[in-house]
Amino acid sequence: MTTPRTYVRYRPDLEQPLPDEEELIRQVVEAMGKANRQVADKHRHGLRDAHAKSHGVLAGELRVHSRLPAHLAQGLFTEPAAYPVIVRFSSAPGDLRSDQVPVQRGIAVKVIGAPGPRALDDGHTTQDLLLVNHPTLPFGNIAEYAKLQDLLEKQPRQSDRQLQLTGLAARAAAKALTRVGRPLPPAVETLAAANHHILGETFYSMAALRYGDHVAKISAAPRSANVRALTGRPVEKKAGESALRDLVVDFFAHDSAEYDIRAQLCTDIDRMPVEDASVLWPEELSPHEAVAVLHLPAQDAYSDARRRYADDVLSFSPWHALEAHRPLGSIMRSRRAAYPSSSDFRHRLNGVDPQEPASITELPA
Ligand code: HEM
Repeated sequence: MTTPRTYVRYRPDLEQPLPDEEELIRQVVEAMGKANRQVADKHRHGLRDAHAKSHGVLAGELRVHSRLPAHLAQGLFTEPAAYPVIVRFSSAPGDLRSDQVPVQRGIAVKVIGAPGPRALDDGHTTQDLLLVNHPTLPFGNIAEYAKLQDLLEKQPRQSDRQLQLTGLAARAAAKALTRVGRPLPPAVETLAAANHHILGETFYSMAALRYGDHVAKISAAPRSANVRALTGRPVEKKAGESALRDLVVDFFAHDSAEYDIRAQLCTDIDRMPVEDASVLWPEELSPHEAVAVLHLPAQDAYSDARRRYADDVLSFSPWHALEAHRPLGSIMRSRRAAYPSSSDFRHRLNGVDPQEPASITELPA
């Protein structure tokens, strides 16, 4: 017989801010802002400071499972319900790179009408889930992340070809190190992304968040057979600069897709820390458990009106959140300043009013 797991209970003192954290956050936000201004100058248009390029903008539904056990029936997932969502697929750089450059990919899910007290007093009803196709953030706290800024600041000046070569070199280094059982340096892990069909990927919150009475990391994994079949399928070299948008649009022209939304609950605060997002939480201590289905019906996934709305009007942020899903750890705390700074800059530059939707009808067709 297996012993039942004990789930760590959420308490505010699970978070342990670094002594110089405010200053580190200020430096990171300033460096990101500088890179963002260079990119905006190049395009004469304000873009996101990260995940600038979108590949698809979809309407869908988050269907919370019924009869979840007590440890999973928490926060947004307490009761079986169906919430409208807006989904934006993206690539990690804060610039518009060719889709042939292998970089991390993202999915941002905006759940509309999430009931309950807010993490910040923002008056909204959205719960955003921002997920990337890698389970950990190699620069796992804000002090380490500040070191990444050098790398990121150089990127606006590098060509797509240079970035492609950097990716190739990082993948070769990652392979060689893995073969001899050595850990990957954070820069190698960050740059060694493969270039696979975006709809077959599994996406992770990388960092932890409150999960009602507990603490969890969230992920989204392909559930329907049609997206499971796309896992690991390389993006064709001949498919061009907008290969990912074309793949997403072609897919949703005829097909619907489903992803499992999963929670991995913390059972051991030492081996599954909240202050270091570079640590992979071991699945033998706690598996990823499905709590909801993300249902995306067939639709036009990238009309001009949708692109403008998602890229220029909307902002996603882990701090658009219920108190029950408060983001945790220094990486998450840094994002509380970084996202509004990036969002304010591009909205101001583009002369566009930001809007946080209260209804799915605000998403154009
Ligand atoms: C846990 C690790 C992280 C994950 C999973 C993540 C994921 C994402 C995703 C998916 C987006 C695109 C959202 C969209 O479609 O609009 C995004 C945007 C962004 N990320 Fe992160 N991110 C992480 C860490 C960070 C950190 C540490 C910073 C900076 C301190 C940062 C800064 C930004 C900024 C500025 C944007 C653009 C915001 C806007 O202009 O609306 N991210 N992130």
